[in-house]
Amino acid sequence: MDLVGKHIVLGLTGGIACYKAAEFCRALIKEGATVQVVMTEAAAQFITPVTMQALSNRPVYASQWDAREPNNMAHINLSREADAIVIAPCSADFVAKLLHGRADDLLSLMCLARPLESVPLLVAPAMNREMWAHPATQRNMAQLHADGATVFDVGSGEQACGETGDGRMLEPAELLHDVVAFFQAKVLAGKRVLISAGPTFEPMDPVRGVTNLSSGKMGFALARAAREAGADVTLVAGPVGLPSPRGVHRVDVISAQDMFEACQSQVSHADIFIACAAVADWRVDVPTQQKIKKDASGATPSFQFVENPDILASIAQSERAQSGALYCVGFAAESNDLLAHATAKRLRKNVPLLVGNLGPATFGKDDNALLLVDAQGSKEIPRQSKRALSRLLVAEIANRITQPRSF
Ligand code: C5P
Repeated sequence: MDLVGKHIVLGLTGGIACYKAAEFCRALIKEGATVQVVMTEAAAQFITPVTMQALSNRPVYASQWDAREPNNMAHINLSREADAIVIAPCSADFVAKLLHGRADDLLSLMCLARPLESVPLLVAPAMNREMWAHPATQRNMAQLHADGATVFDVGSGEQACGETGDGRMLEPAELLHDVVAFFQAKVLAGKRVLISAGPTFEPMDPVRGVTNLSSGKMGFALARAAREAGADVTLVAGPVGLPSPRGVHRVDVISAQDMFEACQSQVSHADIFIACAAVADWRVDVPTQQKIKKDASGATPSFQFVENPDILASIAQSERAQSGALYCVGFAAESNDLLAHATAKRLRKNVPLLVGNLGPATFGKDDNALLLVDAQGSKEIPRQSKRALSRLLVAEIANRITQPRSF
C-alpha cells in the first residue's frame, strides 16, 4: 500500500473520462489513501456525486456555498488537509480557469487557495484530440507546468467522440502509478540508469533451449523504483512475461549474447548500471538448424557448451566505470554462505556494490531479502516486497553516487 497516510483531494471536471475517475478513486483508496471528492457542476453531468460518495466513503463537495462547513469556507478547509489535489479528469476549460487564477466555483477556488508550497496540484488532462492539439491548450499546459503544477501525460487512441488521437485521460492504473511516483523522493533526478533483468534463453535447436528460474521481478521493480526516483531508465529484459514499468525504455533480448550486445550499446549513455539479470553462464556452441528428433535407438544428443561473455565484468572494467563516471551494481544469487560469496563476487567482478540474495528464496517471488556488500562492509535489508526493497536499494545507490560512503 503505497499511499498510506496520504489525503488526496480528487477533483472532477466535465468530461466523459469522469467514468474513469470512479475506478481511479477506488484505486487510490485501495492503495491506502483517503480521498475527498470535489466535483464541478459539469462533472456532475457525467457521473453522480452519489457514485463518488459511495466509492470514497465521504460526502462529495460541489459548491462554494456548502453550508456543512462551520466556517462556510470549504475551499480553505479542504485544501489545507490535502497532501495533493489531483484533478482527474481535467477539462480544457478547467485548465484555462486554473491558468487565469479564476475562482468562480469550489474546485477552482480551492486550487487557487491552496498553499503553493505544501499542497501540490496534479492534473490529468482529458479532452478531444483537436482541443488537446489547439495552441491555446498547449500554451495553457506549458504555463500550468511553469506555475508549478504536475501535468500528467495524455493517452492516445479512440475517443468517445469517435475520433482517434491524443487527449484521452490516462487509465486509472496509469494515474495511480503516476500519483505514487509523484510522492517518491527524486534521488536519481537527471541520472540515466541501465538495468538488466530476467533470465536468458540459450537455444539448443529451434524449439528448445537452456534457461533458468529468474522471473525478472526484481529487475523490473528496480526499473520502476529508479524511474520513480526521477531517473531516465533503460531496461534490458530477457524472456519474461512481465509488463513494462511505466515510463521505462525496454529492450527485449533472448540470449546472453543478445543481452551483452544490448547492454554494451546502451551503457555509453548510463550513469548507473545494475546487473540484475540471471545470465546463463554457458550456451550451446552451435544450435542445430532443425529440431533434434528422438529416434528408436534411444541415443541421447550431446552438446558442446561455450562460456557466455560476462556482461557485468566487462562493463565494470570499462574506462567509464573505472573512472567513476559509471557506477556498477552486481547481484549474486546464492544458495548458501551469502556474505562470503557476495564479498568474493564483488571483488571478482570489480564493482563498488554487490547485492546478495538467496536464489531459491527469490526466484519467482514477490518478496525478497538483500545483503548489500561494498568496500566498507555489509548491510542486510530484511525480507519485504521487491517494490519496497527496490526503493531502498535505489536510495542506497543514490547515497553512494552523491557521497561515496555507505553504511
Ligand atoms: O557470476 P555470477 O553469474 O554469479 O554473477 C552474477 C552477477 O553478474 C549478476 O549481477 C549478473 O547479472 C552478472 N552477470 C553478467 N553476465 C554474465 C553472468 C553474470 O552480467 N554472463
